[in-house]
Amino acid sequence: MFLKKNNTIVRGPTSDNCEGWLYFDFYGVSWYSKRDMERTLIKDVGAHVGEEITIKGWVDVRRDHGKLIFIDVRDWTGPAQVVFLPNNKELHEKASALRSEWVIELTGTVQKRPEGLINSKIASGAYEMLATGLVILNEAKTPPFEVGADGRDVSEEVRMKYRYIDVRRPRLQKNLRNRTKVFQLIRNYLIGENFVEVETPILTKSTPEGARDYLVPSRIHEGTFYALPQSPQQYKQLCMVAGFDRYFQLARCFRDEDTRGDRQPEFTQLDIEMSFVDREDVMVVNEALLIKLVTELYPEKKIQQIPFPRISYKEAQEKYGTDRPDMREDKNDPNLLAFCWVIDFPFFEKTDNGGWTFTHNPFSAPKPEYMSDLLEGKNIGDILTTQYDIVLNGWEIGGGSVRNHRAEALKSVFRIMGFEEERILKNFGHMLEAFEFGAPPHGGIAWGMDRVMMILENEPNIREVIAFPKTGDGSDLMMNAPSEVSPEQLRELRLEIKKKPQK
Ligand code: AMO
Repeated sequence: MFLKKNNTIVRGPTSDNCEGWLYFDFYGVSWYSKRDMERTLIKDVGAHVGEEITIKGWVDVRRDHGKLIFIDVRDWTGPAQVVFLPNNKELHEKASALRSEWVIELTGTVQKRPEGLINSKIASGAYEMLATGLVILNEAKTPPFEVGADGRDVSEEVRMKYRYIDVRRPRLQKNLRNRTKVFQLIRNYLIGENFVEVETPILTKSTPEGARDYLVPSRIHEGTFYALPQSPQQYKQLCMVAGFDRYFQLARCFRDEDTRGDRQPEFTQLDIEMSFVDREDVMVVNEALLIKLVTELYPEKKIQQIPFPRISYKEAQEKYGTDRPDMREDKNDPNLLAFCWVIDFPFFEKTDNGGWTFTHNPFSAPKPEYMSDLLEGKNIGDILTTQYDIVLNGWEIGGGSVRNHRAEALKSVFRIMGFEEERILKNFGHMLEAFEFGAPPHGGIAWGMDRVMMILENEPNIREVIAFPKTGDGSDLMMNAPSEVSPEQLRELRLEIKKKPQK
């Protein structure tokens, strides 16, 4: 390494097989690979008129006009048109061999397109490149579908089997890149508000959240199972006991339930929990974050009403016949966002066999005026919970509550649900014990991030905003999962598969 005059250290190679530069500037250290610096992104082509530049990407289409060959090259910033003239015979021949989705490095001189040939739909549409060099980095088989189109006419099976090609299409690239921006904004905002990002375990214990658990057998503890988290509910509450005060996590959750347009077996929550708050505090922080998200990243969208309207569960049922009302005044407007809060849900509902179960979350507190009824197990059907759901254009995008932070109140919930003392201790002893060691009052919420992204991107299905989603029957057709495992693996886990008898 050596120091350059302007106080910037510039030196390569930085490792044995990778040539690059380390830049020590006023703000710190950054690293740029030599290769990146030699490559121009296609969106920037217009800044290099008259210069020879190199672009890298995939062949979108080749149009052979005999003497002239036109290639559209695509990188993640868009397509560029490249022209091969017949005077360079060798290059022309090489270009005529190119096929869709071949990976190439293309050198050429940038020139303005004639007035009538400008394509205003793409960033580089006013320019084209006159090819001077072509390196084929990799050939490609004919793709199973067209990458440039939006994929709406391709079957789910084919799209999911070749998801890595499917995701190349501009529609999916846009959705997933915007997802990154949304996640970044959320992170920045919450960290700025003193929230701590805590990663909670994936191998954990079953939580009663209404869905079936995915189970993972333990090799060491024979005959026992971990469960994948349906949500980090218990851990985030334990984070409050642990003194974090404000927690968040962009958390993977797993629920073994049937896949639908708004539901995947594996999905992402923005999970939040806060200490020393009441219902109002949690709702206000979340409302502020949602407004910021829309106004900064989706300025073309209009929020119908701020502050978000609030409606009780009872009123929603009476007026709209659902607890997730679509309040849009104009349902044809793809840029209209009608948020609303639904509050005052009943805590319990009757089960098929005449008992009681929770409607939303067993860890919720009742509204304060119903606490004595909860503790005494009285007027159970009338108890209202502190639960609040956030609904957007008729989709439930999130929900949360203030929690029972006293052991006795939590125990009452499980007693009302008919749990014996022994079962309460076995399943929730750790929570009850934790609450006896100074649990602050707390409350939180979780957003379904895939649903939020689906609505913001005007997509009909959360699959379109998830890089590698599962199909309707919970399969990953690309990886071929779930799949059988070897007899050795089963033996190690002391598991035996009993096959269904053949019909
Ligand atoms: P809940 O179960 O309501 O609450 O989940 C919160 C939000 O997550 C989204 N969601 C899903 N998204 C995609 N696929 C699924 N299978 C799926 N299931 C749920 C929904 C939902 O509103 N621990 C509590 C939150 C809390 O009380 O803090 C919880 O998980 O948008």
